[in-house]
Amino acid sequence: MTKPNTTPLILNGKEVSEQIITKIKAEVSNIHSKNKRPPGLSVILVGDNPASHVYVNNKEKACIKIGLHSEVHRLPANTSEEELIDIIKSINKNNAIDGILVQLPLPIHIKAEKIIEIIDPAKDIDGLHPYNLGKLLSGQKCLVPCTPLGVIEILKYYSINIRGMNAVIIGRSTLVGKPLSLLMLNENATVTVAHSKTDNIDGISRTADILISAVGKAKLVKKNWVKPNAIVIDVGINKTLENNKSLLVGDVDFEDVKSNCKAITPVPGGVGPVTVAMLMSNTLQAYKINNNV
Ligand code: GUN
Repeated sequence: MTKPNTTPLILNGKEVSEQIITKIKAEVSNIHSKNKRPPGLSVILVGDNPASHVYVNNKEKACIKIGLHSEVHRLPANTSEEELIDIIKSINKNNAIDGILVQLPLPIHIKAEKIIEIIDPAKDIDGLHPYNLGKLLSGQKCLVPCTPLGVIEILKYYSINIRGMNAVIIGRSTLVGKPLSLLMLNENATVTVAHSKTDNIDGISRTADILISAVGKAKLVKKNWVKPNAIVIDVGINKTLENNKSLLVGDVDFEDVKSNCKAITPVPGGVGPVTVAMLMSNTLQAYKINNNV
């Protein structure tokens, strides 16, 4: 067995995100300089989930920084399914908007699948509409969910070989685990998706050359889940209380795992910023397709 690296490479998501954002910003300022309408993103947030408010504020700030047109619909928690559907239908028709994102989770009285199906697939910059997910499954060009795209961007930025590697993804959500398994397959990895009902999950995780956790359980992944010299990508962002202080931690126990792996993403500052960059990138992509640019 190869001796583990004691000082892993920290995969810096802010750096990856800055590089992507710089490119998008240049394209957007080119659009502005031609006096054309800029790409527009509409975000809908229902209710008062504190984490969702932080995420949506970050998305809004990123739009402003890049020069995208941004609108945020902050709706009360008691908004009905019908009201939300009517709002989405009107944004579908709004020519200033190229991308629509309905922040998840939604309050329990609203069915996310029903809402997502109302979004015009050409404006589905979250890549969650069955039309886009179907295209992703069949290997066609489409809008792809931002977090899985971000994971691939990080691996590529650091020239990490994916082809032929054993990739284990912990988590099977529609937002991350399932689409990421397809993207990793497209990159020719051998992919295993583990989840809450998986037997011997630590043993399966230990087979990973690239281990990705996306379950939302603080510090679930310990040192003995990680093969020496593996690449560890932590998608989780979990709020915990430590010594009476509120902290953001990932699904991976960073301090425990770091001496055992070759490279690891931190939380915060890992996958999160790249997800926002990919949202900007998807909005620009939708703009270009819809405007034949
Ligand atoms: N909530 C947490 N991450 C996401 C995301 O990528 N898209 C949406 N719509 N909601 C989220």
